[in-house]
Amino acid sequence: MPAGSVDFVLTDPPYLVNYRSRDGRRVANDNNDAWLRPAFAEMYRVLKDNSLCVSFYGWNKVDAFMQAWQSAGFRVVGHLVFAKRYASSQRFLKAQHEMAYLLAKGRPALPASPIADVVDWSYTGNRLHPTQKPLSILRPLIDAFCPAAGVVLDPFCGSGSTLVAAKDCRRRFVGFDLDARHCETANLRLVSAP
Ligand SMILES: C[S@@+](CC[C@H](N)C(=O)[O-])C[C@H]1O[C@@H](n2cnc3c(N)ncnc32)[C@H](O)[C@@H]1O
Repeated sequence: MPAGSVDFVLTDPPYLVNYRSRDGRRVANDNNDAWLRPAFAEMYRVLKDNSLCVSFYGWNKVDAFMQAWQSAGFRVVGHLVFAKRYASSQRFLKAQHEMAYLLAKGRPALPASPIADVVDWSYTGNRLHPTQKPLSILRPLIDAFCPAAGVVLDPFCGSGSTLVAAKDCRRRFVGFDLDARHCETANLRLVSAP
């Protein structure tokens, strides 16, 4: 992709936790971080100057993610918490939130009315992907951080949730996934989205 060709990156990469869902599904590349720095270096390159990236991440691998973001050139400008009404797992604590960082390339303009950094999560049922993100949390991020008619990129798009949300918000979009089955799911969702 050409440098500076994307207006907003919204991505949900593997969390580096070797995830296995209750029904045995796995996430490609969740067992190694070889892709992490090169992927964020590319996201930075293809993003326009003075633009933003939202990246979900795994809380226990924050050091690896932070190094990748900062070595790519991103500045950390915010943090989002998505609060769940249920626990997705349980050890010392009940895991009831997901997180994402807001990252800047250059100096994006401040919004006139910033959105809140704590957001209600809704359960998708993970029918289309083992770690499927709800559209209801993605749409407000696109509305807030991608200019009208801009291009949203998700290079780890899974079942295409970011892309469907971008279509709902009347933005253009580009998505990739390593797993051809997820690309097929994303295509089917996009074709049937109004
Ligand atoms: C956390 S999941 C994304 C789920 C997505 N947000 C959804 O709602 O369906 C991360 C995705 O990254 C994909 N992936 C892993 N390594 C990749 C790579 N090098 N390039 C593109 N996709 C990759 C996996 O196949 C997986 O679908």
